Amino acid sequence: MAPGKLPLVGHAIPLIKDRLAFIQHLRTHGPIVRITVGPKTLTVVNSPELMHKMLTSQADEFTKGLLFEKLKLFGKDALPVADGKPHLRRRRLMQPAFHRQQIAGYVNAMRTTVEPYVAGWNGGTPLDLKTEMQLMTQGVVMSALFSATPPREPAYKILHSVDTVFKTALRRALLPVSALEQLPTRGNRKARAAGTALRTAVADIIAEHRAHPDAYDDIVSLLLTAQDETGAALPDDEILSEVTGLLAAGSETTAVVLAWLFHELGRNPDMERRLHEEVDSVLAEGPITAERVPRLAYTRRLVSETLRLYSPAWLVTRKAVEDVRLGEFTLPADTDVIWSAYALHRDPDIYPDPLRFDPDRWLPERPQPPKGAFIPFGSGKRMCMGDAFAWTEATIITALVANRWRLRPTHGTVRPVGAITTHPSSLRMVPELRHHTVVGKAR
Ligand code: HEM
Repeated sequence: MAPGKLPLVGHAIPLIKDRLAFIQHLRTHGPIVRITVGPKTLTVVNSPELMHKMLTSQADEFTKGLLFEKLKLFGKDALPVADGKPHLRRRRLMQPAFHRQQIAGYVNAMRTTVEPYVAGWNGGTPLDLKTEMQLMTQGVVMSALFSATPPREPAYKILHSVDTVFKTALRRALLPVSALEQLPTRGNRKARAAGTALRTAVADIIAEHRAHPDAYDDIVSLLLTAQDETGAALPDDEILSEVTGLLAAGSETTAVVLAWLFHELGRNPDMERRLHEEVDSVLAEGPITAERVPRLAYTRRLVSETLRLYSPAWLVTRKAVEDVRLGEFTLPADTDVIWSAYALHRDPDIYPDPLRFDPDRWLPERPQPPKGAFIPFGSGKRMCMGDAFAWTEATIITALVANRWRLRPTHGTVRPVGAITTHPSSLRMVPELRHHTVVGKAR
């Protein structure tokens, strides 16, 4: 048991006060450590080897656990929260839309969605960077995967609904007292209303696809024409859950990574200069295409280093389905487990000088982290299905922003906050227009 446990509340106080510092500190207490939060005991797996086993060779011995139970607010059967055979079937169905070859086909939609956002900023007017990035990444998921391009106001409403549902799920996972979830509190009412608003927005997209089936060839059409093992079409509410689940899984994660990336560039002018040189030279030849993306090697290293230092997955859960032997430890059936890529990626035993933002760690000639020690997208059969999509998207957004703007920091400290992802406490940055010539050529 980790030290600092108090009667009744257990470790709830440090978890509420500074979750990220607490989860990071737990690594010093051994490969596996137990904490208590109110009535619950949670087992935190710290060792990269045990984490790897749990996510890969022993994955069948665990379900997704507490956090994902609460995330069923998005729809009970959606891929990120489903378990067992239903998960496998749904993953097989949707995976082709995320294959590497498929991603090349999304590059144009990514570019044409992002360019107007970036062109719409006003030089000198501070931006709330996390919100801007969320609008952009949500726009990219909606246009590339659902062929939908909602205007800013409805898009903002969708984003707000996703945020509300995420906040509720995390609160419920960290204070798992089911009776509280049924009370007619303001928070519970807001969560229900947000869930309804989100499903209504998604239902409109599905209705449009049904009305004009020949006009679309995307993941919504794939779900609409799919059959289950008996040959029956998927029920409407399952299609709704899948689309909502993808929207939620695919927007906030990439957005916070981009916000952190530009935060680091704002305080590292040398890195910003190297990025500008690379982007200017690649985009001088023409607009971003699938062939040009791999040439943005420094941009990609910036994304890798951001995924390491600011890994959105600071708290991911599992539950043991039976008594499990994990390395030397026995986890009884129903043990609630936590793993944290954020804490793992900041471990000084794995990454020298771990708090230093250094994209050149990822140069191929430098020693790379051992297997299982860099897992921003998880690992094994539950590994992020959108990883290749996210790499491409983050690289493209970084390049398109950098091609036109420098984002200058404003005063104030920016701290990482452990919410559903690891987001900046508050990040306002001021766009400053760069030269026009390169932008002109790139279009
Ligand atoms: C930088 C961006 C992203 C990060 C860091 C990220 C991270 C993760 C992680 C850690 C998991 C695994 C959770 C677990 O093992 O329990 C996951 C699952 C998932 N992600 Fe992502 N993700 C990102 C972007 C995306 C995007 C863009 C999409 C889709 C458009 C997406 C769709 C999914 C789905 C569907 C799952 C569930 C997979 C399954 O359970 O089989 N993600 N993501």
